[in-house]
Amino acid sequence: MTEAISGTRDGQLIPQGKSSPMVVIERLTRQFGKVRAVDNLDMIIRTGETYGLIGPNGSGKTTLIRMVVGLVRPTSGSIRILGNTMPSAKVLPNIGYMTQLSALYLDLTARENLQFFSNIYGLRGKEQQRRIREMLERVDLVERANDIVGNFSGGMKQRLSLACALVHNPRLLLLDEPTVGVDPELRRSFWDYFAQLNKEGVTIIVSTHHLDEASRCTRLGLMRSGKLLAHEGGDTPQELLQQAGKDNMEDAFLHFASRTESMGSTKIPEVPQ
Ligand SMILES: Nc1ncnc2c1ncn2[C@@H]1O[C@H](COP(=O)(O)OP(=O)(O)O)[C@@H](O)[C@H]1O
Ligand SMILES: [Mg+2]
Repeated sequence: MTEAISGTRDGQLIPQGKSSPMVVIERLTRQFGKVRAVDNLDMIIRTGETYGLIGPNGSGKTTLIRMVVGLVRPTSGSIRILGNTMPSAKVLPNIGYMTQLSALYLDLTARENLQFFSNIYGLRGKEQQRRIREMLERVDLVERANDIVGNFSGGMKQRLSLACALVHNPRLLLLDEPTVGVDPELRRSFWDYFAQLNKEGVTIIVSTHHLDEASRCTRLGLMRSGKLLAHEGGDTPQELLQQAGKDNMEDAFLHFASRTESMGSTKIPEVPQ
C-alpha cells in the first residue's frame, strides 16, 4: 500500500498532520513452521481511525494484532508506532489491548482486576482510583465492582475486559474480536462506545468476523491467509462495496476472496458468519 492510497478518503487527500500515521506496517511476515500467518503485509493506520481487520478464522488477525502490541516477534518486516520501531517500551503505555480470549482473573473481583491491570501500567494512588471508578461507570459495572468475576455472564466479562484495556487511557486501542459471543444489543452498545472513544481521539484497530460491523469502521483490511484481499481502489467500506459492485460487505468479501482464488490460491474460503 502506498502513502498516496492510504492518504485518500472518498478521493480527497487527507491533510497531513491531522491524520498523521499512528501505525506503519511494512512487509510484515510471521511464519509458524510451515504456516505463514501474516504474509508480507503493508498497512498504514492513521491517527483517529477505526481500522477494521475483517476475515475468517485463521486469516492472521490475531497474529497481526499480537505483533503490533509487541507480544509476537515478526519473522521479517517492521512495525512503527508513532515513529518508534516496535517493540518499544516507550510506546507500550500508550497501547490498550483486549485479547480474543479473556485475560481476566476469574477468582478476583471486577475492581481487583482493574487494580491489577492499572498497576501494570503504573497508575497509582488517587489517579488510579479515579480511573477505576470511571471505567466501572463507563461499562456499567459499578454495582458488581466487588463481585468475583467467575460468576459474571459472558457480556459482563467482555465489558470488564474492555475496561481493563482502557484503564490507563491509551491512545491506541487494539481489540481482538471484542464482540464474539456478545448479544446484539451489547454488540451495538460496544460499537457506540468505540465511536465515542474515537471521538475522544483514541485510534482503534478492531478485528471481527461480523461483516455487519464493517460499516462502523473508517477503513477496512479484508484479510485472508495472512494477506489483504483488496485495497487498490481504496479501502473505506463504501469504496470496497463500490469496487466489488455489491451492496453488502458479505458479498463484497466473497467477491474479493473468489477473485484471489482464481489467481491461484487453492484454499476454499470459510464463509464468515
Ligand atoms: N502460536 C502459534 N503457533 C503455530 N501456529 C499459529 C500460532 N498462532 C497462530 N498460528 C496459525 O497462524 C494462522 C493465523 O492464525 P490467527 O492469527 O490466530 O488468525 P485469526 O485471528 O484470523 O483467526 C493459523 O493458521 C494459525 O493456526
Ligand atoms: Mg483471532
